Amino acid sequence: TLSSAMIDRPPLQLVKGMPILGPFAENWKDVERFQARSDDLLIATYPKSGTTWVSKIVDLILNTGDTEKSQKGAIFERVPFLECSGPSMPSGTEILNKQDFPRVIKTHLPVEVLPQSFLDKKCKVIYVARNAKDVAVSYYHFNRMALGHPDPGTWDEFLNNFMEGNVAFGRWSTHVKGWWKMRQQTDMLYLFYEDMLEDPKREIQKVIKFLGKDLSDDVLEKICLQTSFKAMKENPKTNYTAIPSTIMDQSVSPFMRKGICGDWKNHFTVSQSERLDEYYQKEMSGTDLSFRFLV
Ligand code: A3P
Repeated sequence: TLSSAMIDRPPLQLVKGMPILGPFAENWKDVERFQARSDDLLIATYPKSGTTWVSKIVDLILNTGDTEKSQKGAIFERVPFLECSGPSMPSGTEILNKQDFPRVIKTHLPVEVLPQSFLDKKCKVIYVARNAKDVAVSYYHFNRMALGHPDPGTWDEFLNNFMEGNVAFGRWSTHVKGWWKMRQQTDMLYLFYEDMLEDPKREIQKVIKFLGKDLSDDVLEKICLQTSFKAMKENPKTNYTAIPSTIMDQSVSPFMRKGICGDWKNHFTVSQSERLDEYYQKEMSGTDLSFRFLV
């Protein structure tokens, strides 16, 4: 059984300078020595940037739109979470070491602490990035409901911690920039959540091409429908309702919360928004990576 020990909101721990959930840190040795294979596909994201969305898109593409196959398990089973670990549950690495090939693997690790094996084996990577303001809001609500995370406190307190990188997986800016730089050395598709919202069909087509698949318009249409926010919110295999409420309390905030761009406007005060703008300008100077905060 999944233990209720998660509900004590264990403090974050540092792994190579990166804050991570305490139980994840306990399993770090296994993560570090994880053996990737050249046919693994890695889905990498900073939390709350569209991981679940792109995972379902990838799963459907790899199964040529066969919904029955893709519905065989919850999305977090079909795309195991590499660094996940907790009391009384198999760790991500244990699950992956038994998984059939080829595997699709989810990670939130910044590229600086990614197990070396992924780089050595030249695995394909799909990265999804989302603007910092919407990520902060989404992560705040997620911290409220995901009881393995520290209590986020007030929105203002959380926002400060977010900008300081004092949240699980560290600084947003380090993450998006680190992976952006990696795309030159890696077989990588770097996507933006805002682009996916603006034109899902166009972005799904990019993924199809990246995976070397050739799908009919009917299948593409079907994948678009199955991966709409509404469909994924209603789908028990993608909405995380399979996770016990002692770990994710969806009565506090649903996993499939809003699925839009610009919800930050409902949370940020003018001065909070200015503070984040300042942080963004400073962190993003010297990179050609840029984000849209509204679509
Ligand atoms: P919100 O909290 O802003 O609603 P992740 O999967 O990386 O944890 O990201 C979760 C965020 O992606 C949540 O954002 C969730 O609602 C949103 N999301 C999930 N599926 C989506 C979809 N099909 N379309 C749009 N947004 C989606």
